[in-house]
Amino acid sequence: MSSERAYEVIVMGATGFTGRLVAEYLLEHGPEGLRWAMAGRSPVKLEEVRKELAQRFPSALDVPLVTADSMDRGSMDALAQQTTVVCTTVGPYAKYGEALVAACAEHGTHYVDLTGEVQFIRRMIDGYEDQARASGARIVHCCGFDSIPSDIGVFMLGEAMAERGGTLKEVHMYAGESRGQFSGGTVASLLNILEEAEKDPSIRKVVGHPYGLNPEGERDGPDGRDQTGVKFDKEIGMWTAPFVMAAINTRIVRRTQSLRGHPYGRDFKYREVMSTGKGTPGLMRAMTITGSLGGFMAAATVGSLRNLMASRLLPKPGQGPDRKTREEGFFVIRMIGHGVGPAGDQVELQARIEGHKDPGYGETAKMIGESALCMALDESVRTGPGGSWTPASAMGRALLDRLRTAGMTFDVKVPATA
Ligand SMILES: NC(=O)c1ccc[n+]([C@@H]2O[C@H](COP(=O)([O-])OP(=O)(O)OC[C@H]3O[C@@H](n4cnc5c(N)ncnc54)[C@H](OP(=O)(O)O)[C@@H]3O)[C@@H](O)[C@H]2O)c1
Repeated sequence: MSSERAYEVIVMGATGFTGRLVAEYLLEHGPEGLRWAMAGRSPVKLEEVRKELAQRFPSALDVPLVTADSMDRGSMDALAQQTTVVCTTVGPYAKYGEALVAACAEHGTHYVDLTGEVQFIRRMIDGYEDQARASGARIVHCCGFDSIPSDIGVFMLGEAMAERGGTLKEVHMYAGESRGQFSGGTVASLLNILEEAEKDPSIRKVVGHPYGLNPEGERDGPDGRDQTGVKFDKEIGMWTAPFVMAAINTRIVRRTQSLRGHPYGRDFKYREVMSTGKGTPGLMRAMTITGSLGGFMAAATVGSLRNLMASRLLPKPGQGPDRKTREEGFFVIRMIGHGVGPAGDQVELQARIEGHKDPGYGETAKMIGESALCMALDESVRTGPGGSWTPASAMGRALLDRLRTAGMTFDVKVPATA
């Protein structure tokens, strides 16, 4: 498929804050000779972005521009037919994303995005998975901070357990220290989920279901609701609070298990929380986070307050943190994996996943950039079966290797006491 198309990758939404960073990532880290283009709805803005990028990367002037409107199906068809992979940062996806998924599914074009909107993903699976299977299009949502560290982290633990002759049975994920702010687009997406859920009870059902993204007939298992309050976790000896991304990450990890044929058995368990530290400071942090999150959600479910939050909290479209803030950002995630060894013994493994720039922009641009390259260039991934996949089920080992090479930490160790 790739050789007869003009481009290997098109970055759709290159005029937005995140899209521009993805374009910058490809200019800095894309392989020599990569055939790629930048797309957006405004040719004038695209030209401005290209000129701006050329100040740091003169080769940007050679990158072709494609004008395309996300709300116009014909325009999305034309875009999808020109490339092996579309990498899109146009969101909120529930508002602007459907025509592009439909076009990719029809034309056998691989697709990666940054959505964290469960209801949108469910709608895309139900609407276009059969067509994507038939055309060979590989549709992969959630290729940013949500949900690559979680999905690829569990994949890595599963492989490490298998190398020791064992089987992974349960993973506890702890989101730890981080610096960096949420993307404005991410807050906009969250507010949009709440707005849609208010209008449509079936959306509330999907968003609240721990297995809401699994295929039909596979929507049950041992996991329940995500943590909503403060808890002391004996396993790590720390206080914990709810982790806002758990609502999407856990669903993606569980869909991966189903799509991979339940490699760890149907009783595999997965949960995510935020670890806030030991003693009274840890407890206070957990209470503050839980309270703020509860307050945010309560306010955001009231239409008028939601609009006020959108106007006050959201950066203007195309805006986000400056380079210094992105470079000084980081995140740390720990996972504890429990498994059964070859002799039926209990095996414990620990994983550490780190990003060395801010999670929402710097590391996200890296993760979706590497996902696009992986889908376009890694033969076994590019030629894999079509359908609606997750990062780990579509790209697994190939993406893990790429992210390590790109400087992210994905480490596994046996705990000293085991
Ligand atoms: N998962 C993660 O970790 C993560 C991290 C960062 C961002 N995100 C997601 O990425 C998305 C973008 O975030 P952002 O902060 O980069 O937002 P942004 O700066 O507002 O960029 C939005 C982009 O969408 C484009 N767009 C809007 N409507 C369009 C249309 N009809 N046709 C073509 N293009 C259209 C905009 O084009 P114009 O320039 O012409 O307006 C712009 O390029 C959000 O959904 C956000 O949730 C996710």
